[in-house]
Amino acid sequence: MSARGGALVTGAGRGLGREIALALAARGHAVHVTDVDGEAAAAVAAQCGGASFASILDVRDGEACRAAARDTAARAGGLDVWVNNAGILPTGYGWEQDEAHRRLAFEINALGTINGTLAALELMRPRGTGQVVNIVSLAGLAAAPGQTLYSATKHAAIAFSIGTQADLHRSGERGIHVSALCPDGIWTPMLHEKVDDPEAAASWTGVLLQPADVARRAVQLLDRPKPVAVMPRWRSPVLRFYDAVPGLGIRLLPLVMADARRRQRRWKARNTV
Ligand SMILES: NC(=O)c1ccc[n+]([C@@H]2O[C@H](COP(=O)([O-])OP(=O)(O)OC[C@H]3O[C@@H](n4cnc5c(N)ncnc54)[C@H](O)[C@@H]3O)[C@@H](O)[C@H]2O)c1
Repeated sequence: MSARGGALVTGAGRGLGREIALALAARGHAVHVTDVDGEAAAAVAAQCGGASFASILDVRDGEACRAAARDTAARAGGLDVWVNNAGILPTGYGWEQDEAHRRLAFEINALGTINGTLAALELMRPRGTGQVVNIVSLAGLAAAPGQTLYSATKHAAIAFSIGTQADLHRSGERGIHVSALCPDGIWTPMLHEKVDDPEAAASWTGVLLQPADVARRAVQLLDRPKPVAVMPRWRSPVLRFYDAVPGLGIRLLPLVMADARRRQRRWKARNTV
């Protein structure tokens, strides 16, 4: 049994999820490192060390999420933390994805977050304590150009996250918190794979973050939960302004995207993957 109890991270075989798993292990948790890629999850669990362990988990499967929650509690002596991190980034015009891809994006990014949150609450509510952190995106606050489908899935995820925190509050459950973290672009394999994709340029409009810094912010939320945390903070008023006046945002798009594409090219020239 670990000093801090059990923590489960989804999509933790690489990228941000890997960094969150390592940060949670450093904080003293026994981390259940999960991913659809079982080998990647096992490698990260080995890096976490201690009582951490790995398993294959596809977040689209609600029953599998519930079983993973029970497994964490059984092996770590309780489920204290659940981080919904697994996600995919489809890019391009909204009409370019076929039905299978639309369904996949919603099932992983939105339904996966819902499945994980509910699996965690099933064990946390009877104990009256626990923390859920949902990794959303700035695309959950405003529609990102070139990332229409992704933005729709992330808007669904943040609505469920804030709504669940509100439900917990109104049902009088004050020991359980659900926080949504909305980071700017992060330099992970998700963007390594999109560095030549002009439709992904919106991820370069602000500050490209390092995964270890975002993981640190995610873990800070365990000590000071917030319904919505934006990283960096200054992006929040800017995006909420665009969201409030979408007509202006659409007119400015050609300028914004041209600048983003320049930044994306410059980033690629300076950073080898
Ligand atoms: N990279 C960014 O710019 C950025 C910015 C803001 C938010 N985010 C969000 O952060 C989270 C992590 O992204 P990342 O950049 O580390 O991506 P990544 O592609 O590097 O890693 C995603 C992980 O999720 C796993 N995964 C995919 N489908 C899954 C499924 N069905 N079930 C379980 N695991 C699955 C993958 O195997 C992979 O290990 C995502 O929710 C993403 O939307 C990313």
